[in-house]
Amino acid sequence: MKPAGSDEQHLMKAAIRYRYCSPDQLRVAAIPVPVPAHDEILVKVKATTVNRSDCGVLTGKPWAIRCFIGLFKPYRPVTGTDFAGIVVEKGAGVHNFNVGDNVYGFFDQGLSSHAEYVAVSVKQAVLKMPGHINFEQAAASLEGAHYAFYFLDPLKVKAGDKVLINGGTGAIGNAALQFLKHLKVQVTVTCETAYTAVLQSLGPDRVIDYQNEDFTKLNEQFDYVFDAVGKSTFAQCKPLLKPKGIYVSSELGPNWQNPLLALLAPFMPGKKVKFPLPYSIHRSMQFIDGLILKGEFTPLIDRRYSLAEIADAYTYVMSGQKKGNVVLTFD
Ligand SMILES: NC(=O)c1ccc[n+]([C@@H]2O[C@H](COP(=O)([O-])OP(=O)(O)OC[C@H]3O[C@@H](n4cnc5c(N)ncnc54)[C@H](OP(=O)(O)O)[C@@H]3O)[C@@H](O)[C@H]2O)c1
Repeated sequence: MKPAGSDEQHLMKAAIRYRYCSPDQLRVAAIPVPVPAHDEILVKVKATTVNRSDCGVLTGKPWAIRCFIGLFKPYRPVTGTDFAGIVVEKGAGVHNFNVGDNVYGFFDQGLSSHAEYVAVSVKQAVLKMPGHINFEQAAASLEGAHYAFYFLDPLKVKAGDKVLINGGTGAIGNAALQFLKHLKVQVTVTCETAYTAVLQSLGPDRVIDYQNEDFTKLNEQFDYVFDAVGKSTFAQCKPLLKPKGIYVSSELGPNWQNPLLALLAPFMPGKKVKFPLPYSIHRSMQFIDGLILKGEFTPLIDRRYSLAEIADAYTYVMSGQKKGNVVLTFD
């Protein structure tokens, strides 16, 4: 694939920074196209997203993230955690992918995929794309859905259970809604007024417009309350839980109490907090891929930006207002 000729033809555009920074300090620059190593594929990126994991990788916040992505400066100057694209070259040790395959992949600690090309080890979570979806849908299927899978997986939710999801328009909450409907669970979900019809079309039993109704005041009880946007506390949601109900939040809580309450849960009778930690992305991706193949998961896509507009994309995502996923597209 690599363009032959002058050195300039071996360059690609990528979003790059050498220090943890804010979106306005991110630059789009021409850098060399990576050369795939023995176990790597080189992918021409057709779509990627700017997501909440990317925001952590860009800024190095919360600080704990730096233990994985570089203590003083990022190991990877090029940002980006997911991609969908076409294999254009492969290392000698790659046997499960071929040039021309459409593939998609994700790694929350960074893949350098905010670029025209990305080299990825086939040991990472990379799969061939389901045939019926496009590159934008494939890229948008990964980050939020991965976290939704891991927040829900340890709960062992079953058909007939009642679940309340706070934040059905977030990437995580929207994927969670679709995963739970697949399990035939009774779902109540919150969102702003303008999105109630969009969420209703995904099949929940009830949509609560949070601008007109406070879900914590509902006179109803649930087996699980999943705050996918981390805006509530266990104390606020406790009255909503059945006697053995479980509260899960995607955030640490205002005083970082959620992990602590989860550690104390084995010693607490009755209602509990769980704070699940994601581990194998291979596992979540297999699950997501399976649902896409069955037509039971379609990611919500919000705005689209070009690579040149990446700073605006990050600023929008950091506003906490994106609806589902923000996609970066490449010509
Ligand atoms: N623990 C982890 O490992 C982990 C990993 C990734 C992300 N996270 C966190 O999980 C959270 C969700 O991430 P995400 O990517 O799904 O979020 P997101 O896509 O950025 O979306 C947030 C959505 O929630 C809506 N929202 C905001 N306030 C709300 C409220 N009070 N009630 C209902 N909806 C509300 C927003 O719409 P409106 O404001 O327009 O209503 C927006 O659509 C973030 O706080 C993120 O930092 C945690």
